[in-house]
Amino acid sequence: MPPQSAVPDPKSGAPLSTEASTELSRLLAPMSPETFLREHWGRKPLFLKATPEKRAWVQGLMDRDSFHRALKQGQQRRSQRQSQFHIRAMFPSQGGGWMNVVEVEPHQANAMLEAGANVCAHDISDGDERLAALAYALKQQLHFPGEMRFSCYVSPDGHGLKPHFDAQAVMALQLEGSKTWFFSKEPAVQSPAANGLLLPDGTVEWSEEAEGDVPFEEVPTPDLGSFAEAKLEPGDVLYVPAGTWHSTQAAGSSMGIVLYFSPLPLSNLLEQALWLMGESHPEWRSGPPAAVLSASTQNGQMPPEVRDYFAHRLAELRGWLENLDPGGLPLQRVWKRFIAQGPPPRMAKAGAAPRTVERQDMLSIDAGRPLSYAAGKNTLGEESVHLFCGEEELTLGAGAGPFIQHLVSQHQFKAEEALRWGTAGAAYDWEQVQSLLQLLVDQGILLLKSSEPGREAQEATRR
Ligand SMILES: [Fe+2]
Repeated sequence: MPPQSAVPDPKSGAPLSTEASTELSRLLAPMSPETFLREHWGRKPLFLKATPEKRAWVQGLMDRDSFHRALKQGQQRRSQRQSQFHIRAMFPSQGGGWMNVVEVEPHQANAMLEAGANVCAHDISDGDERLAALAYALKQQLHFPGEMRFSCYVSPDGHGLKPHFDAQAVMALQLEGSKTWFFSKEPAVQSPAANGLLLPDGTVEWSEEAEGDVPFEEVPTPDLGSFAEAKLEPGDVLYVPAGTWHSTQAAGSSMGIVLYFSPLPLSNLLEQALWLMGESHPEWRSGPPAAVLSASTQNGQMPPEVRDYFAHRLAELRGWLENLDPGGLPLQRVWKRFIAQGPPPRMAKAGAAPRTVERQDMLSIDAGRPLSYAAGKNTLGEESVHLFCGEEELTLGAGAGPFIQHLVSQHQFKAEEALRWGTAGAAYDWEQVQSLLQLLVDQGILLLKSSEPGREAQEATRR
């Protein structure tokens, strides 16, 4: 299936629809996504100078006007508890340590810039449909199960960040002005658990402390003289893996957006997989039993009945893990669920409430909310198919497999064409097809267009 593109071309407004022009390949051009993943992802930075075409595309993503609109929209979504959006004004600290950070409101952003602050709008993509769609499309094309969002940095002349590394990889896209990045040629720490800052005395300070028994590793003082240097100008792109030392300095007023890749810890994924395995077991649903401790059992040790509970559950767990297929449905289902999560807010759709699907109806898949599916044996050993669309997940019987395989490769189709989506072109009957398509329309997974040419115009007039 050729990947579908969600973000319209800034010049023509037409959706990008060929494999050669997915958002990912466009962002990484002239390097292929395969080469990027093989040679740079998590391994070493990548600096890509812009071509005129790429510069136009990148600069079309955000300007000062859309930046200020996004600040207001982001703040609104945050007040509705739909976003972690926030604006920070960062001033250099006198002693050279962590910056002095003040959280500000959208109307204060300009005053902060004039006062010499570096202004960061964290999660600005939550306030801008175009950036939200781009971040989501890139997440789908990379099959990245963690979170990906854009933040925006506006920096006055000469302003920058001191040497530090982040727990998240970033992809910086320069929009206006220029900013010079200095960075180590490879990560100093693999997938760090927190951010790290180089203090003036050469020691490295972690932004957080370890929650477990093992403290975060000692990080040696980096050799600043060995850092690579890249001057980002409009349209240029720089990828910096997590744990890579970097510092920045703006030349002139600089504005850039930074796509961050917040990793999904394996333990979070396994937690959901364990729930799928344990939810049919009363002892797993109940959790450890309540226990009353007497004076003699209150000795800092586990009460015997709780210890017995864990012993039995661990024995069951060892058996499950022994039989868990690394490529099987239970893990694939959870992995795909995380990839599909976090679609951009749905834009208002033309048309009335879903109606009955008829044979001649045209149906389409929203390019901004692509479909994916996982098929195989569930934890009971039964064949099943799971269809994902954003936060929606539909569980279907094994018989739906060939149908779903056809469906995810479509962009637009006539309802009756789906009659031929059985195995080896075998025909389904209309009642089966109609009920499945109706379900998908009712869930908002498929968009239903009118079958009568004049009808949409009439509905539009009525609105
Ligand atoms: Fe950073």
